[in-house]
Amino acid sequence: MTFRVVAIISGRGSNMESLARHASGYEISAVVSNKEDAKGLEIARGLGLKTVAIPRSKYATVAEQKRALFRAVCELNPDLVALAGYMQIVEPYFISRFRGRIVNIHPSLLPEFPGLDTHQRALDAGVKEHGCSVHYVDEGLDTGAVIAQAKIMVPKKCTEAELAALVLTREHQIYPWVVANIAAGAITFSQDQVTYSSTCRKEALSLNFHLP
Ligand code: GRF
Repeated sequence: MTFRVVAIISGRGSNMESLARHASGYEISAVVSNKEDAKGLEIARGLGLKTVAIPRSKYATVAEQKRALFRAVCELNPDLVALAGYMQIVEPYFISRFRGRIVNIHPSLLPEFPGLDTHQRALDAGVKEHGCSVHYVDEGLDTGAVIAQAKIMVPKKCTEAELAALVLTREHQIYPWVVANIAAGAITFSQDQVTYSSTCRKEALSLNFHLP
C-alpha cells in the first residue's frame, strides 16, 4: 500500500509542489487548504492531485473552520500530514490525533528564529549561517523535534528576498527527502526521539543535510 501524505497549505504551495514532483515511496493523496484562492491549490489541480478547500467564509468562527479542516484531514486517513506553508496555529486536538505523524518545514535553523519573518530577523541578527528545518509538530510554536536541516552561508549585502530564495531552494530539496525517508521507515519517531537508519545518515551527509 502506498504511503499516503496529506499536504496542508495556505498560499503559494511551492513546497507542496516539490513534495509532489519528487514523491518517491509515497504519494500526495490530497492537498488541503484553509484558503480557497491559494495559488498552491491551482498547482495541485494542475498536477492532478485531489484538493480540498476549507475557507473561513463558510464557517461562523475560525474555531469551526479549524474543526472542519481537521475532520477533512481525518477522513483522508493519511499516514503523514505535511504542513507546507499552512498559516494557522494547529490546535492541540489535531496534534494529539496525529502525534509523530505530522511534520512541518520552517525557514530557519531551529531553535533560532521560530515564528514569522525569519529571513529579516536573521539578517538583522547578522548571522553567518541560515537555512531551513523539517521538524515534527508539537503544541509549541516551531518547537517540535528537529528531523533535518539544510544550511546556507548568508551572502554579504544580501536582501531579504535574496536570502528567502536561497533558503527556499534548499527547502525544496530537503522536504521530499525527509518525507521519503519517513515513508521508507528510515526515519522514525518515538518518545520525542528521532532515529535514523545508517543509510539515511550516509545519504544526509552526501546531500549536505544536517541531522541532530
Ligand atoms: C516556506 O518558506 C516554508 O518554510 C514556510 O512557509 C513558506 C511556504 O512557502 N513554512 P510555499 O507555500 O511552500 O511556497
